[in-house]
Amino acid sequence: MKFDVVTIFPAMFERPLAEGVIGRAVERGTLDITVRDLRDFTTDRHRVVDDVPYGGGPGMVLKPEPIFRALDLIEVDRGRPAAVILMSPQGVRLTQQEAQRLSRLPHVVLLCGRYEGVDERIRARVTEEISIGDYVLSGGELAALVIVDAVSRLVPGVVGDEQSVAQDSFSRGLLDYPHYTRPAEIAGHRVPDVLLSGHHADVRRWRRKAALVRTLDRRPELIATAMLDEEERALLDEIRRERSEREEH
Ligand code: ADE
Repeated sequence: MKFDVVTIFPAMFERPLAEGVIGRAVERGTLDITVRDLRDFTTDRHRVVDDVPYGGGPGMVLKPEPIFRALDLIEVDRGRPAAVILMSPQGVRLTQQEAQRLSRLPHVVLLCGRYEGVDERIRARVTEEISIGDYVLSGGELAALVIVDAVSRLVPGVVGDEQSVAQDSFSRGLLDYPHYTRPAEIAGHRVPDVLLSGHHADVRRWRRKAALVRTLDRRPELIATAMLDEEERALLDEIRRERSEREEH
């Protein structure tokens, strides 16, 4: 999969894209990520990318011309992208489902905003706007890194273990079950016996139930839209029964 990132802080992308599964996928060529410095698309001596807002008021606005030029060059260089995404707190919220949709696209451009905003006319070249959450970042760079990470790990071949991606928290709309490794006891805290039992069917059932318990306790609103199979629906009934019995006693 190809990404082009347009930013005034290209250095912010260097280490994050060189580490871990993303770094290895870039090395192998499974991911092709080009980070472009918006200042390279200015034409003045001072490489100015921002200007004062028409109508006055505080803050600066990213100028449209360098962004238009960057998008033109990307198209000439790498072909027409399947999506041009503006990072913005006004965008559609990033979810696992959105990440899955983007992971099926061959080429995505990520535009990082800065200052008070970007000139509204660049939206003519933007196909979608994405927010990573209801809070304001100083710029779109961290949001773009979040998108590259969440989307890339869904691209076949990026994460070695496809099974682990498929079983991820959120891939079916539920939270993850608790994980344990050795030792079997630390400071009086024991690993649940079933996980030491060697009974694969019991372990699987315990994990499925624990994921449901967590989701019910922490994010109950997710249950309504989760993709539950018959066993999980039965486990959910079991949990609810156990809880109402506990309340009665
Ligand atoms: N730029 C500033 N805040 C942002 C957010 N929450 N998501 C995406 N881009 C942003």
